[in-house]
Amino acid sequence: MGLNPIDKVSQKVMERTKNNTLPLDRMEQLESYSIQWSTPISDAVRSQVEKATASLAYVDMASGPMMRGLLGFLVRATQAKRVLEIGTFIGTSAMVMAEAMAANASMEQNAAENSATSTQQHAPHLLTIEMNKRYRALVQDAFANEPYQSIIELVDGDALSLLQARDPRLFSSQLWDMIYLDGDKAHYPEYVEQLVELLRPGGVLVIDNVLWYGHVLDVESIGNGDAFTHNTATDASREAKQQRKAIAIDHMNQLLARHPRVSTQILPFGDGLTLATRTS
Ligand SMILES: C[S@@+](CC[C@H](N)C(=O)[O-])C[C@H]1O[C@@H](n2cnc3c(N)ncnc32)[C@H](O)[C@@H]1O
Repeated sequence: MGLNPIDKVSQKVMERTKNNTLPLDRMEQLESYSIQWSTPISDAVRSQVEKATASLAYVDMASGPMMRGLLGFLVRATQAKRVLEIGTFIGTSAMVMAEAMAANASMEQNAAENSATSTQQHAPHLLTIEMNKRYRALVQDAFANEPYQSIIELVDGDALSLLQARDPRLFSSQLWDMIYLDGDKAHYPEYVEQLVELLRPGGVLVIDNVLWYGHVLDVESIGNGDAFTHNTATDASREAKQQRKAIAIDHMNQLLARHPRVSTQILPFGDGLTLATRTS
């Protein structure tokens, strides 16, 4: 039984709205429609996707257009100035967020110029962690251009080890306005405590793949959730890896739902998205 049980009232509302929700058989067209009538991505992001597609066998780990759009929107709407990303891959999510941060900074600059009172501005900073050398090499050129160069700091390493070692690049005196957790799914639960600690109260934690292709629904039949540790995934079969990830992700979802310092909402968007905020 979940923390927020579907009671009779919720069931009734869900039943009533069932006929008014989007037709599943037209989801692909509706997704295309939604992308077409949303703010377009920049030429730089488009060309980075093209470059990565030409040099990698697959780029399906990259956030899709809607997720990228949402990340940019969240940065703009929350005016996030310090963003931490775990999992850079081909760099497009970092680029979209950096563009939003640059746009916020120039909006703030214009407002300051038009206002009699001067306010101190803080430079936007996005720290993105990637453990794979090949992916880091793939983003170097794109990140060398503005506005990315002034905003993005690409860090080499295993994000979990950096967190556990309390790396000063992550643990400075300033907390993060937004954190995007999008790598190392098998160890998601191990990130929760420190990411909550690093997020400023009122900040936004965004986590991708929280429904793991639907497999979170199969967890009870897989095992008891104690199976994952930091080293066991390497020699496991693909299926066992997927199961381990499903168990880990389900465990993290439960940790966040019960966390006393977090308010969280899972959305069945893409492969499942968590939006959480630190409440104390
Ligand atoms: C889903 S991709 C990230 C996609 C990217 N954020 C985007 O939206 O386009 C996950 C990335 O996390 C990286 N990764 C996985 N485990 C990691 C870890 N422990 N530390 C740092 N990076 C990790 C992988 O190499 C991969 O590039």
